Amino acid sequence: MSGRLDWISRKAGAIKGALRVPGDKSVSHRSLMLAALAEGTSHVRGFLEGEDTRATAAVLSRLGVRIQVPADGERVIHGVGLHGLKGTQAPLDCGNAGTGMRLLAGLLAGQAFDSTLVGDQSLSRRPMRRVTDPLTLMGARIDTQDGLPPLHVRGGQSLQGIRYTLPVASAQVKSAVLLAGLYAQGETEIIEPHPTRDYTERMLAAFGWPIDFEPGRAKLSGGHRLLATDVDVPADFSSAAFFLVAASVVPGSELHLHAVGLNPRRTGLLEALRLMGADIRVENPRESGAEPVGDLVVRYAPLRGVALPEALVPDMIDEFPALFVAAAVAEGQTVIRGAAELRVKESDRLATMAAGLRTLGIRIDETPDGATIHGGSLGGGTVDSHGDHRIAMSFAIAGLLADASVTITDCSNVATSFPGFVELANGCGFGIGVAGG
Ligand code: S3P
Repeated sequence: MSGRLDWISRKAGAIKGALRVPGDKSVSHRSLMLAALAEGTSHVRGFLEGEDTRATAAVLSRLGVRIQVPADGERVIHGVGLHGLKGTQAPLDCGNAGTGMRLLAGLLAGQAFDSTLVGDQSLSRRPMRRVTDPLTLMGARIDTQDGLPPLHVRGGQSLQGIRYTLPVASAQVKSAVLLAGLYAQGETEIIEPHPTRDYTERMLAAFGWPIDFEPGRAKLSGGHRLLATDVDVPADFSSAAFFLVAASVVPGSELHLHAVGLNPRRTGLLEALRLMGADIRVENPRESGAEPVGDLVVRYAPLRGVALPEALVPDMIDEFPALFVAAAVAEGQTVIRGAAELRVKESDRLATMAAGLRTLGIRIDETPDGATIHGGSLGGGTVDSHGDHRIAMSFAIAGLLADASVTITDCSNVATSFPGFVELANGCGFGIGVAGG
């Protein structure tokens, strides 16, 4: 992680232009892991050059995988095969990335060697029992610090397939179990309380592993091979989300976003914003790799508050900070329930957004699993992002409408998921500067 960085976001004009946001984080992590375990050489295009995905690449390099970087956004991964990774005594640093650590825990549970996974301060506070519990049922041995990282994964265990119903909807947990399932005897089956993003399933199939899946369920058995495959990573919907909200709320805006990943398990925010009255169109819907993508055209439209359908929550789990800002300037109340998972993200996102919006003059009633946001007008002030990338970018949107500047502290982690955010945002009308710079 780089040093501490604070931003000032100021009112600017309308949000206009055409842009492509960086590659999808979930797909980038998975492309590295599956290509590493495959036989042969895989080319990944549109790879996210973020700190999170680079941390995963560095971990795999440490484990003996040769990864070349022919150009920004490209990786050539020389797969070592399912049993070709080499152990290391050195701690494997996942940085800020929950996805990296949880998926790697599953992958490493099936190896012949011991490993230690560590993370930064924020990752070191995130719950890991949700992955170590099912992996332990499979026969893995993983020690935690009272359920928190570091994770000490013992090698040489023989894993058994399980049928596991996830207690919480989590693609990370599902993926960790499926990755361990590659090394297990017999069948591994996951049942989800609500369908979550299915990138691991789609990509396993693309790499030639037999897998049976449908929304809410996935099943595979151990003992097959992964074969090298090229991956085209779509633009990250979660990064596009900040622009969708900004252009929706700033009068006079019109923005075009190219080749955005539109996996239905990611696009809940589109539906939520449309329910609020947003004007967002999908153009040129198409398939890229194994994923649906499209170009998004968003125009300013006055928003009104809604009672958010709970069924949308898992499909927009990373987009709540941006939705909170949309709700803060919408007419009337927005009611969010069933979103307790937000408390265990990179920060407690319910508490962090509530505190920041209150500072900016918005009335907000926090509940254990959500919030009621009373739309109003935003004032200026200083808000703490708590080192959470998505909180920082969301408050940058708030600065576009506030009647005085908004200072956002602790923004360096934006580089984990969205390198170049400030340049791209300012290029289409944001007014973000470095505080004190
Ligand atoms: C992710 C799953 C989600 C999401 C995270 C990325 C993934 O986490 O919030 O940013 O790539 O599988 P959970 O599985 O904890 O819901």
